[in-house]
Amino acid sequence: MKRVSIAAYFGIALGLMLSLTTAGYPQSPLDQCKSLDEPTPGVAAASSRSLQAFQEATPEALRAFRELNRNPPMGRIVGGHPVAIEKNFWQIAMVRASVAEPTRSQFCGGSIIGDTWILTAAHCVRNAIVREDPRRVDVIAGTSQYAIGGERLKVSAIHTHPQYNQSTMDHDFALLRLQSPVTKGKVIELAKETTSVSEGTTACVTGWGATFEGGSGAIDLLGVELPIVSTEVCNRPESYGGDVTATMMCAGRREGGVDSCQGDSGGPLSTLVGGRPTLIGVVSWGEGCARRLKYGIYSRVSTVALWIASTTTGSR
Ligand code: ARG
Repeated sequence: MKRVSIAAYFGIALGLMLSLTTAGYPQSPLDQCKSLDEPTPGVAAASSRSLQAFQEATPEALRAFRELNRNPPMGRIVGGHPVAIEKNFWQIAMVRASVAEPTRSQFCGGSIIGDTWILTAAHCVRNAIVREDPRRVDVIAGTSQYAIGGERLKVSAIHTHPQYNQSTMDHDFALLRLQSPVTKGKVIELAKETTSVSEGTTACVTGWGATFEGGSGAIDLLGVELPIVSTEVCNRPESYGGDVTATMMCAGRREGGVDSCQGDSGGPLSTLVGGRPTLIGVVSWGEGCARRLKYGIYSRVSTVALWIASTTTGSR
């Protein structure tokens, strides 16, 4: 008798908790962030596209892919789920140019913002892997499994934001100019100088990064929805105590559990602006991944709208 009432009590408490945790977030997810785990229209198209990637892959590529699949990831992005490349057509993977096909060594993400332009994070190019040398990085576009399918593109120039500060992570932006136009992906709209996203807006972050803090990367493109957090809240002593600058923005939940993580860097944080998917942030940094009160920090795209426009116009 007592046991039953305790169980019932827990049931009610759990129900309450669940309704509380979902209450603040919009019920309908962003289209680009919809899980492929749920049967939704469009999934059929997505899986036939993946099938095409498998059919087109060389035997060597398939072998390399199977190698990766031997240790399937335990979780997803952090707290996320597989998403369709068709709904995230701007997503690219940055891979080491020194590792030749069929193997692809992914280390960062990025977004297609012009037919020959990728926006990523400065820390994805000013590091030991790339050393800001365009010959040391390739771009993979048009595939949900970065390891197979899609297209591999060469980079002809790297433009790191002139005000990038490696110690504060201020202005963590870089532009990659491609040797040839992307054919298997499409551009995402950029936040304008005047675009402001209010606190609590739902955004979507995607990538092939770690699925838990200290974990390894994912094979399938994963995504998760996150609420935008104000800089004021993010800079409170219990979070980042003033380290979040005007060129950054925060997203995540107070209780943690959902976040981008190592390997997602440079990738897109998007939302709908005027009904269209718009790039508002670039995965930049955070203390650990998905920790309570340690929101994910993204470079704020609206602050560099003019730098992007002036760098990408004239040259293609
Ligand atoms: N700096 C990381 C990278 O190079 C991304 C960190 C994002 N961290 C976070 N907690 N949101 O991949």
